[in-house]
Amino acid sequence: MDTVRIISECDLTSEIDAAIRRTLVQCFPKDVEFFSRNRAWHGCAPSYSVLVLEGAEVIAHLGVVERRVTVGGVPVDVAGLQNVCVLPECRGRGLCRAVVSAAMDEANRRGLDCGLLFCSAELIPVYERCGWQLATGRAVVRVDSDGEEKPLPEGNVPMWYPLRMSVFPEGGVHLGGNDW
Ligand SMILES: CC(C)(COP(=O)(O)OP(=O)(O)OC[C@H]1O[C@@H](n2cnc3c(N)ncnc32)[C@H](O)[C@@H]1OP(=O)(O)O)[C@@H](O)C(=O)NCCC(=O)NCCS
Repeated sequence: MDTVRIISECDLTSEIDAAIRRTLVQCFPKDVEFFSRNRAWHGCAPSYSVLVLEGAEVIAHLGVVERRVTVGGVPVDVAGLQNVCVLPECRGRGLCRAVVSAAMDEANRRGLDCGLLFCSAELIPVYERCGWQLATGRAVVRVDSDGEEKPLPEGNVPMWYPLRMSVFPEGGVHLGGNDW
């Protein structure tokens, strides 16, 4: 049985930080340059990380960015999933499901309204099987590092997960910062 750990960013050691980045580098080969130095995708640091260790290596991981966004003008406190990954040799044994589910349990304990993530179309079924729902058919606005409002990068599909909020409000999503 794999033990899923939840680590707040303030308790994350430099050893775990380096181990997470080693795993990110393997799982996101296009972004080796970034992840070999940093985990805060688009400048968005997680407030907690969920991971499974095997020895000193992180075999499954995600980060959770806590953010107040607005949906149709309504403030919504979201648990934003980022950098979800499982080492190639450990895939297909339910580790993704395990870390996603533990992340939402923790978000619920923290009193957040819902989960929010952005994924490629091929991964929609992976998250749907974990209880996530499409939040498509609406504008999603992010604010890039120059302070400019932009749409989500091409190919990103928004999905949400109900917690305190059981219905995702109608209307456009404003991320109040960059996407994660
Ligand atoms: C996506 C990823 C995290 C899934 O990890 P995993 O541990 O294999 O997932 P699980 O074992 O929990 O599998 C969940 C289900 O999704 C399916 N699945 C996994 N990866 C998939 C993919 N890339 N495309 C389609 N289906 C996929 C599995 O077959 C499994 O289906 P099943 O329950 O019917 O058997 C892993 O493939 C990965 O790290 N990919 C590279 C990084 C990435 O793209 N991350 C997502 C960023 S949004």
